[in-house]
Amino acid sequence: MRIAIGSDHAGFDQKAPIAEHLRAQGHEVIDLGPTSAERCDYPDYADKVARMVARGDADRGVLICGTGLGISMTADKVPGIRATPVQTVQFAQLAREHNNANVIGLSGRFVPLETNLQIVDTFLATEFAGGRHTARVEKIMREDDPSFPGVGDDFGL
Ligand code: RB5
Repeated sequence: MRIAIGSDHAGFDQKAPIAEHLRAQGHEVIDLGPTSAERCDYPDYADKVARMVARGDADRGVLICGTGLGISMTADKVPGIRATPVQTVQFAQLAREHNNANVIGLSGRFVPLETNLQIVDTFLATEFAGGRHTARVEKIMREDDPSFPGVGDDFGL
């Protein structure tokens, strides 16, 4: 698989070992930075990775910041991206099976590297389950369309 990877300063230390781990498995890894642990802004790297996945130039994206939160929030705003923070292997599996996530945000400060390696392996190995989840994922994606008027607030209550 072709994997785009990026971080901020708080995720920097885990970026290279994760990239190496994936390369050792035969994946093509494109490291979009940063190139040093100097303080930087996670939205810049989230944007680079997310746009590469959205363009189809990478199959999946892996992002690492302190919590995995801000970097996922940013990536998820790019049309075509389904990004989520993931802190456990089970959530990595469900993010793929139920939500067809194409980008994950890892925590470099609160989750050890060994766990993040297992999370990334699961994220890459797990297929979308389809079935009842297909229409729900389509409903996620309609939010990308600025002309989508929303479902309204009349739920018959
Ligand atoms: C950087 O201090 C920190 O805010 C960032 O890495 C991330 O955790 C944001 O969501």
